[in-house]
Amino acid sequence: MTDLRLAPVRWDGEALILLDQRLLPRQENYLRCTDHTSVVEAIATMVVRGAPAIGIAGAFGVVLAARFASRLPEVRRVEYMDIALRELREARPTAVNLAWAVDRMATCLRGAAAHPEATLAEEACRIFEEDLAANHRMGDLGAALLSPGARVMTHCNAGALATAGYGTALGVIRSAWRDGHLSEVFATETRPWLQGARLTAWELQRDGIPVRLITDGSAAHVIRTQGVSWVIVGADRVAANGDVANKIGTYALAVAARHHGARFMVVAPSSTVDLSTASGEAIHIEERAASEVLEVAGTRFAAPGVEALNPVFDVTPAALVDVLVTERGVLERPDSAGMAALMA
Ligand code: MRU
Repeated sequence: MTDLRLAPVRWDGEALILLDQRLLPRQENYLRCTDHTSVVEAIATMVVRGAPAIGIAGAFGVVLAARFASRLPEVRRVEYMDIALRELREARPTAVNLAWAVDRMATCLRGAAAHPEATLAEEACRIFEEDLAANHRMGDLGAALLSPGARVMTHCNAGALATAGYGTALGVIRSAWRDGHLSEVFATETRPWLQGARLTAWELQRDGIPVRLITDGSAAHVIRTQGVSWVIVGADRVAANGDVANKIGTYALAVAARHHGARFMVVAPSSTVDLSTASGEAIHIEERAASEVLEVAGTRFAAPGVEALNPVFDVTPAALVDVLVTERGVLERPDSAGMAALMA
């Protein structure tokens, strides 16, 4: 099962078309990016979000930069591309898919001819297609782990909107529903951007998958009282020892799942695995504006003078992960040796 109408990142041959996820589900509005700076801006401001989706957007950003560079005098091209690659790579820091995709495009650029736009566009399309295929493969692998009637919880949005399509955690949920292994999904609302409330619940509802939205604070209670057997999440970066960076609140869900005997599944393509980062301690955790915490829909509700801390990702230690599902296979209780073997 897949919702083909959801196209968060699309290349029309000329421009990158991004579904503005900040407005969903009230409004389906598309932004047309024709230069790399508008792609950088779209990634930084959450028009496009989700680790694989920002990687794909970044890859097409490189195509747009190369198009502009080809109109510059030859002596200025290398410098322009170096700056563009760095700006795209750094648009958001935690999801390694962005750096991975931009680096892959940089390698392609180095091997390409004087006017590399077409070659780069082919490479970016390959990144898109590989992600879509990985999601379907992970969906099948993960769904096979669920027993019929499973009640699962998911966090943030690791769905079609966060990827080339189908989703990572939601890919497993979609496949499990197709296979008759699923009875219900609990989606956390995911403050402050409400990816769970606005995106995940909407995606699942569109596919006819039973979903109930819960507040973030009720997750442990719901796991304990509603017979949740699996917590299934995506990832922004998986370190060499199996530690997992994902949306803030994931760590608390893993602790609650372990305490209550629910299993904890992380679903992520190999482009999310970063063997150059030894452990979660070395992962750069993005902090965003305090206003995201102090305000709701642009209206401040905290008293004047109140300050906020807004880390938007956290690290779940590998010891709390029961299963890591990638397109390369399933790894139980990930550790350094298992990660190295998976990625070899
Ligand atoms: O801040 P976001 O919305 O980009 O965070 C997204 C997540 O944390 C997802 O769980 C993660 O990127 C995996 S998406 C398949």
